[in-house]
Amino acid sequence: MSTVQVLLRTNAREWVHLLGKALPGHLVIEDALQASSGISYVVTGKPPAGAIQALGPVDAVFSVNAGIEVLLEPGIVPDGVPIVRMVDDGLAAGMRDWVLATTLAWHRNLFAYDKAQRESRWSPRPERLASERTICMLGAGHLSAPIAMLLARIGFAVRCWSRTPKQIPGVDCQSGADGLVPAVHGADILINLLPLTPSTENILDATLLRRLAPGGVLINAGRGRHLVDEAVMTLLDEGHLSAAFLDVFREEPLPPEHPFWRHPGVHVSPHAAAPTHARTAVSAIAENILQFEAGGRLRHVVDRTRGY
Ligand code: NDP
Ligand code: OXD
Repeated sequence: MSTVQVLLRTNAREWVHLLGKALPGHLVIEDALQASSGISYVVTGKPPAGAIQALGPVDAVFSVNAGIEVLLEPGIVPDGVPIVRMVDDGLAAGMRDWVLATTLAWHRNLFAYDKAQRESRWSPRPERLASERTICMLGAGHLSAPIAMLLARIGFAVRCWSRTPKQIPGVDCQSGADGLVPAVHGADILINLLPLTPSTENILDATLLRRLAPGGVLINAGRGRHLVDEAVMTLLDEGHLSAAFLDVFREEPLPPEHPFWRHPGVHVSPHAAAPTHARTAVSAIAENILQFEAGGRLRHVVDRTRGY
């Protein structure tokens, strides 16, 4: 009987319960002392340094998050142990809803009207059709590709950018270093859903953001370290950006003194775009384990050299 160790600071009990139901014949535990033999699999988010090593040799580490940059830090997951990232339809549906909500709220000026209401001002704005707006999606992966396709179906002109070439119905797909400027140039809405890697860190800098159409918007649900915070503040103050919807930050929780809290153009959400729900995500892990134990290959294994 193989053992699954849940190493989570929050909701560990729920994960143990649901994984236990999804993996009959496996021992699913929260406390390593309950293990009668070695641990085969670890389910974790952001474990402390040394915690996985302390469990002895394991077959695989399953992340409850889609972004796994913390697991690639030194001393977290021993070399050679496969890291499996979270690929779950529930997570993808959450991200779709958040990106649609922020995109459409900005596109139809809902926040501007909300502000006007609080000042009892009747001030209609020139409304544009979706077909008159260009969106650039950074990333064309599990979360971003279906959203790009959906936004194109709604009628927006959608471009996306990925590392390797892609074909997505209705979307102008750009890739590689040469594809970034054509993807971003003149876009009204920039949505970031890249993973955090050495190649993508600080990618949302002033030079890139200035390539957007004047009055454009940044929607960042990737990671805080993609964004040069000062660049957003400067471009908002200059009016080149009209708004920024930010879900992720260099430091989380966002410190009380951070200017993002108070800037009228910044809309902060507390890393809430697409939380992982154990009730949908356990099956992604359980199916992978069962397939692996039946002789198949683990799916969604992180390429450590690529960083995602
Ligand atoms: P995927 O790995 O499925 O997709 C990543 C995409 O980014 C791929 O299209 C990939 O290109 C592209 N990419 C990676 N590196 C580069 C690069 N150097 N240049 C150009 N394109 C690049 O990831 P997911 O869609 O599942 O998740 C994306 C990220 O979303 C996560 O890593 C995480 O940071 C964030 N996230 C945020 C959440 C939130 O609540 N705010 C929740 C969940 C995720 P290619 O296709 O060629 O490999
Ligand atoms: C994730 C996240 O990567 O919640 O899944 O940010």
